[in-house]
Amino acid sequence: MGLSGCGDGSYESADRSEAGDSLAWIQGDPTWPDKVPDGPIDFKKHVRPLLIINCLECHNREDAPRNGNFILETRALAMSTGSAPPAIIPGDPDKSPLITVMTLDPLHQQAMPPAPDKIWGVRLEILRRWIKEGALWPQEVTLVHPREITAW
Ligand code: HEC
Repeated sequence: MGLSGCGDGSYESADRSEAGDSLAWIQGDPTWPDKVPDGPIDFKKHVRPLLIINCLECHNREDAPRNGNFILETRALAMSTGSAPPAIIPGDPDKSPLITVMTLDPLHQQAMPPAPDKIWGVRLEILRRWIKEGALWPQEVTLVHPREITAW
């Protein structure tokens, strides 16, 4: 486990301009996403912005030691970190800790995200479908702390 699954240089060279593109989508419409997309879930377009905005603030490799040691920067890290890896079981959202921590009672100590908002239901469904469809996550796609996003 640990950082070995993560191509060394890939973190620093994270594709910021492309991340900015998909995040700009949200900024233009703060209620995004108001519905679950038709057709297959696209990791870069639908899932990455949700994870960056809601999770990466705590689940980046620098802050992870304070946050369950769970690192959500690459698929390899997401599959190998945390107290009981893997957090994602492709094809089975109901057994994936990534989903179960989000469906806990909001007052539960482990509930994620700590303060769900009213459009969280749609986002959760997108993440569930993404896992159900196999949790596809291209190897070169790296997630970063929201402060690393230079263009919104
Ligand atoms: C404000 C910081 C914060 C944010 C934002 C956050 N988490 Fe967490 N996360 C934590 C902390 C703290 C823990 C450890 C909780 C514990 O075990 O007591 C944790 C633990 C986890 C774990 C369990 C790791 C393990 O194996 O023990 C998963 C999975 C997880 N978070 C997923 C997410 C997801 C998905 C999001 C975004 C939807 C998210 N978290 C957002 C702080 C955060």
